Amino acid sequence: MTRQAAPTESLRDRQVRIQVCTILLLSILCAPFLSSADEPAADLQESGRLLVILLDSGRVTIGRNQALLNDASKADKGFTPDVFAAQTIAEFKERTGYDLNNLSEAKVPSMAKPLLERLLEESKKTVASYQTVLNMPGVGYKGLIPATFGTETGTRFQNWSGLYLKQTAPERFLRNPKNKADSFEAAEMQKMADPTFPRDGKHIVTAVAGDGGSVRDLLPLFYEKSCMSCHGTPKGERDITGYPREGGHEGELGGVISVKIDRSRAGAPPMADGVPGRR
Ligand code: HEC
Repeated sequence: MTRQAAPTESLRDRQVRIQVCTILLLSILCAPFLSSADEPAADLQESGRLLVILLDSGRVTIGRNQALLNDASKADKGFTPDVFAAQTIAEFKERTGYDLNNLSEAKVPSMAKPLLERLLEESKKTVASYQTVLNMPGVGYKGLIPATFGTETGTRFQNWSGLYLKQTAPERFLRNPKNKADSFEAAEMQKMADPTFPRDGKHIVTAVAGDGGSVRDLLPLFYEKSCMSCHGTPKGERDITGYPREGGHEGELGGVISVKIDRSRAGAPPMADGVPGRR
């Protein structure tokens, strides 16, 4: 009897040992995901991701309306800040699932809410600033294109928040010197330009910067057919905006929308003017 009991007990011991080992192993493997120390960085990265998508949604909306905006035969274009906002909100919702009309219900990091609301406001202000020229009959190109929208809105938003948001391009495609890439952007763009990098434009690179002091989100912009009238060929010949064409090709990386958020902003209470974590 005792001899028969021995193997049974040791089998049970072994089962317990395996269970303990499994739990230990799982907790080691899962530690990076459970650690609360990483939560602020995750919130910052998600906030940055949503901000670059919102700026791009505005660019896309301007691009979709380009023929209307450039129509010299028409005076009132009806492209008011509210019309622009409704289309941008729809684009953003399709890409993220979040409704900017109802952010209080959305499961986005709390620090992102005032930032997204303000970026939409600043985007509308850019469109508002073009209303007079937009509604002038007899004028074709009026200076409002996705790129100028992006540069002006990014600057305006940055002035309010102190948060770095811009569009930049690889050196050989760079037009506006104010948009020049920093070393992190230049290195990441080199990787994105590689043909193995997904070309769908939805593959946002998110990272904690080398010094660990900030998080970065980069949304790649690949040249499409619609970009070629300005950034394509013949190289050197001036486009409608007056810049020389760069000789770019469809599918090439034209640039990125880039955001950088200091980690010190995480969890910091908003200032009186609503800016999350500004020091
Ligand atoms: C109507 C001409 C035109 C078209 C079409 C156009 N761009 Fe541009 N692009 C410009 C101009 C002008 C600037 C410089 C804007 C500024 O002054 O900040 C620019 C700037 C940029 C920048 C910012 C970096 C820099 O060089 O200053 C990126 C990135 C960019 N374009 C990508 C694209 C992509 C991608 C497309 C197509 C989806 C596109 N552009 C379509 C004219 C155009």
